[in-house]
Amino acid sequence: MSVQTSDFAARLLGWYDRAARVLPWRVPPGSDAVPDPYRVWMAEIMLQQTTVAAVAAYFERFTARWPTVADLAAADDADVMAAWAGLGYYARARNLLACARAVVGEHGGVFPDSEAGLRALPGVGDYTAAAVAAIAFGRPAVVVDANIERVIARHRLIETPLPAAKRDIKRELAPLVPGDRPGDFAQALMDLGATICTPRSPACGICPVTADCRARGRADIDRLPVKPPKKAKPWRHGVAWWIERDGQVWLVKRPDKGMLGGMRALPGGEWSDAPPGESGLVSVDHGFTHFDLTLVLVRRQVPPESRDAAAEGLWWPIAELDAAGLPTLYRKLTDKMLERDA
Ligand code: ADE
Repeated sequence: MSVQTSDFAARLLGWYDRAARVLPWRVPPGSDAVPDPYRVWMAEIMLQQTTVAAVAAYFERFTARWPTVADLAAADDADVMAAWAGLGYYARARNLLACARAVVGEHGGVFPDSEAGLRALPGVGDYTAAAVAAIAFGRPAVVVDANIERVIARHRLIETPLPAAKRDIKRELAPLVPGDRPGDFAQALMDLGATICTPRSPACGICPVTADCRARGRADIDRLPVKPPKKAKPWRHGVAWWIERDGQVWLVKRPDKGMLGGMRALPGGEWSDAPPGESGLVSVDHGFTHFDLTLVLVRRQVPPESRDAAAEGLWWPIAELDAAGLPTLYRKLTDKMLERDA
């Protein structure tokens, strides 16, 4: 480790010791507490593609209801999926359960403590394996999330566009990782990216590593890291069915594979590129990562004939729709429907 690199870590960690965000899954710097790998892992899964602000309440609810990995492994799939409702990217919830069950079934309820061992678990990719290895187990892993990408791309003036820039970022970051506090180092970079080295108008005046930052003072610092060209998002269309009887509405479970897989939902047709012929009672627009969707709600009298759909369906009291665990798309649609009827 060169003098300059250890100096980078020392300045960053000195700042983190004073300014670390207090987060429910985090062991504060200087504390003697040992991080719980279960909590660290759960936080990292929840935080993928999602902000700290959105995750905090979900994290508290999940860890209160399922305090250990064994509790989660024994949970009903439907309860976990419903508890995840609103957080999005529902494949993460299915993988969360699969991973908890693998830890219990194949590892005696103890998380593997190496990056490679973690990487072999369901739903654990390169980023999560590195983050959990560093934060829970003190392994000197090279952790790169979007905040860290931004900090390093600026500090080292990496002008290669993402995703190719990732390789350069890792190469620059690897020799900076301190052997004694790799978990704090990763979280310090995340905090720096979230609070000081922000996407727009970074607060370079109070940055602990500004002295040798190669992007400092550049008018175009907000451009870094350079993003890949944006693809146009297609617009898709779908119809959902409002089937009502005696104050109840017919809900189904979506197939495990595919969009919103395994989640409770209103029944309906396939989504397609063409707008439907029928106009609905209400409609909502919803943005997914790779397409936007207009979903219209149409009244139907009877549940669909299909045996599969019927097997996975149930009547749900309309007054208790809040507790159904509907993903945001359907939540928006049912809220609008109930407002219309009110
Ligand atoms: N984003 C992803 N992981 C995080 C963590 N451990 N702390 C703060 N922000 C994060």
